[in-house]
Amino acid sequence: MELQVALEKRRAYRSLAPVTITNNDIEQLAKAAQLAPSCFNKQPWRFIFIRDESVLKELHSALSKGNEWIHKASMMIAVFSKKEFDCTLSDREYYLFDTGMASAILMLKATELGLVAHPIAGYNQKKAKEILGIPEDLKLITFINVGKLSDCLDESLNERQIEEEKQRPKRDELSEFIYYDKYS
Ligand SMILES: Cc1cc2nc3c(=O)[nH]c(=O)nc-3n(C[C@H](O)[C@H](O)[C@H](O)COP(=O)(O)O)c2cc1C
Repeated sequence: MELQVALEKRRAYRSLAPVTITNNDIEQLAKAAQLAPSCFNKQPWRFIFIRDESVLKELHSALSKGNEWIHKASMMIAVFSKKEFDCTLSDREYYLFDTGMASAILMLKATELGLVAHPIAGYNQKKAKEILGIPEDLKLITFINVGKLSDCLDESLNERQIEEEKQRPKRDELSEFIYYDKYS
């Protein structure tokens, strides 16, 4: 798939239908993430690929209100890291940035595989880490929720979420976030 096509096709859809995710799919996602750049090639990212029904069910109890649509995800990917896994250059801590880049590449690969890959911040970190056995000193940065796009709207969605299913949320104009030559 052309990169531009993947960029445009990738959406944080919330209406998911079950899909079988094979070990080969997971390997392809992980190998895509593996190619991400990182500060001094530190590769600070860590992923848990969760397909086990009982673990998924436990994780549902850690989700924030409004994220009930994730109950239909066939896989959740826990993305975690810690500052010490990466460079810190004066006040610049690169672990979140580098893990974010690996995650973005993974999501684009998922798009190419015909999957929805939707990142979230709405969960109870402490509870989710306990369920997954992630040690205290690691930060659980996001879950990427994976499924197949459903033909039917998920019944848990609110009005805003239904709107966002139909149309990609509006982006800022380029003029609001780019500068030429100097900050102004
Ligand atoms: C760090 C982060 C946290 C997010 N948290 C949630 C969330 O908790 N629940 C949710 O439904 N979507 C969440 N999203 C998805 C965004 O709402 C979505 O990416 C944004 O509205 C743009 O839509 P698009 O990705 O389809 O272009 C999150 C996305 C990111 C990157």
